[in-house]
Amino acid sequence: MDNPNVKLSIGVFDSGIGGISVLAEIIKILPSEEFIYFADTLHAPYGDKPEGVVRALSIKAAEFLSSIGIKCLVVACNTATGAAINEIRKMCVFPVIGMEPAVKPAVELALNGKILVMATPLTLKSKKFNELIRHHKHRSEIVPLPCPGLVEIIEKGHIHGQEIEDYLSRIFSTVDKEDVSSVVLGCTHYVLIKEEIKKAVGKEIVVIDGNYGTAKQVRTVLKDERLLNVIFRERSEISLKTNIRFFISGNGKEVTRRCRQLLQNEGIICESEFSHCG
Ligand code: DGL
Repeated sequence: MDNPNVKLSIGVFDSGIGGISVLAEIIKILPSEEFIYFADTLHAPYGDKPEGVVRALSIKAAEFLSSIGIKCLVVACNTATGAAINEIRKMCVFPVIGMEPAVKPAVELALNGKILVMATPLTLKSKKFNELIRHHKHRSEIVPLPCPGLVEIIEKGHIHGQEIEDYLSRIFSTVDKEDVSSVVLGCTHYVLIKEEIKKAVGKEIVVIDGNYGTAKQVRTVLKDERLLNVIFRERSEISLKTNIRFFISGNGKEVTRRCRQLLQNEGIICESEFSHCG
């Protein structure tokens, strides 16, 4: 028998538009679900703030989505996951799925060279990330590459162009690319500029993100909990139509427009008109 909460939405949150890169992957493999997306743009970026502040903001975001009524929560932010996933799991009565920089898949590729992990300063300082490195360091050399200020550029909607190019060429000028075999995108915002990062590092280096893995994890958890929605929803050759309610804590109209545009770039059309700009 299905879980009585099966008709509820899946809640997804991030500090801003980065989590849309995760949401898009989830929609592609779970097209029958409905979603609520919360972007805490009033407090973005999270990655340059003290851990306690990010923990409190993340708990507040989870409480907010929980108060609306959701069947599962995806913390689509590596920084928030590192700072608060244990506390969020303790307070939620539904499954909670977090992000983790895709170090494991990078190690499993067994390429010859270092694994560079691009992430926010707070993610790279977190206990969770340092445990992850400790766990894998006997198999590969893992090198953290903090990217302060990159989330701010992406949040402005500048995902192509000179500002991003200059930032990436500056950050990679500190790295000896000869020794690097792969780059892990340990922040969901960076997935939005994956093509620019690929261009900046060159063809020989593999660029990896964990979004598809997270989407598969969401599907597995929903199936195990009998929470998968099996209602058929229209799917055309060129687009997926999905109901998403957006809640944005700052600059709501513009951020909602950007979120919709990013989804549209992935062939996903938001049917829902509702959005709350706090
Ligand atoms: N998308 C968030 C992450 O995955 C960005 C954090 C921030 O706001 O700095 O880490």
